[in-house]
Amino acid sequence: MTKILMTSVRDDEQPAIKNYAKKNNIEIITTPKLIDDAIDLTTDIDGLVIQQRSKLPDDIYAKLHANGLKQIATRTAGFDMVDVKQANANGLTVTNVPAYSPRSVAEFALMQILRLLRNSYRFDHQVANNDFRWFSDEQSIEIHTATIGIIGVGRIGGTLAKLLNALGATVLGYDTNPRTDLEGVVEFVAKEELLKRADVVSLHVDLNPTSKGLLTAKEFALMKPTAGLVNASRGPVVNTADLVTALKAGEIAAAALDTFEGEETVAAADRREKGLDDQPLVKELHAMDNVILTPHIAFFTNLAVQNMVDFSLDDVLAILNGKQSPHEIKL
Ligand SMILES: NC(=O)c1ccc[n+]([C@@H]2O[C@H](COP(=O)([O-])OP(=O)(O)OC[C@H]3O[C@@H](n4cnc5c(N)ncnc54)[C@H](O)[C@@H]3O)[C@@H](O)[C@H]2O)c1
Repeated sequence: MTKILMTSVRDDEQPAIKNYAKKNNIEIITTPKLIDDAIDLTTDIDGLVIQQRSKLPDDIYAKLHANGLKQIATRTAGFDMVDVKQANANGLTVTNVPAYSPRSVAEFALMQILRLLRNSYRFDHQVANNDFRWFSDEQSIEIHTATIGIIGVGRIGGTLAKLLNALGATVLGYDTNPRTDLEGVVEFVAKEELLKRADVVSLHVDLNPTSKGLLTAKEFALMKPTAGLVNASRGPVVNTADLVTALKAGEIAAAALDTFEGEETVAAADRREKGLDDQPLVKELHAMDNVILTPHIAFFTNLAVQNMVDFSLDDVLAILNGKQSPHEIKL
């Protein structure tokens, strides 16, 4: 029976893994450990699925090859933890899951856009302090009268655009490679125009040299003082120090950040005792009343988890059966 090892497995993934094993009549061994610490489990397996942000140790590729493995599948979209060149040199095909559920992140961004438009973060803080008053600058904007700017109108940004359009919002888009299939849904404009007109700006670019530091002091200065920012893309797309300054100066009203610089040691971690002293910028964001922080969970839904498991295992079986995976990383 085909035997596959899955590392860094969380409890919430187990039902999907068990279903897959049963449906495909294979054995799947799981461990919560990183592959770095689970190499001893690879001696008699046929396939491997990993999930981690830290880089794989350099000596791991030769060890996997020596144990007869033919592939490494990561059940994430990002694959920068794998040295694909070294993997290929050791006869290992690398696959990822580029799109497990664009809707998961799009729905999350929609929720945060609504929270910013409805000033919910302010009412949450007030009510937590027994302050039930209304303030005149807390009057909200109904979404069908709002203008939402999406930067990066790809899989997730495009899905969000359709959701917003269905709710009657005016949707502006900025993309270095504008799509032609969203006519009547998105009005593509220059970045500066989008920043000036939007009530909320939502970031959905991939991280690349052109998108690193896409929003800095210069861009925040263009935005409305009442505007909100949603970042569920990647932390370094925003210059965090400039964002903190803009929020404190009232250049923009609020930010909802699911991804932020410094999240690598914070997201998914228990910081109740340690606190955030080692991540001063994150600590500052965390202390601000007009910032909603979440620990990189926009993707964390029923369908996305199911698809990450199913698609990555489909890739393993394809390769073991001598077929091509559509998700093979080619250098
Ligand atoms: N928070 C989460 O849980 C979570 C989960 C999945 C993906 N993501 C992130 O969401 C982002 C979008 O993912 P996707 O699958 O939609 O990607 P995608 O590749 O389909 O879309 C990205 C879009 O951004 C555009 N783009 C790239 N650089 C740009 C720039 N400098 N200016 C303007 N546009 C630019 C591209 O042309 C493309 O249309 C990625 O950063 C990904 O890491 C976050």
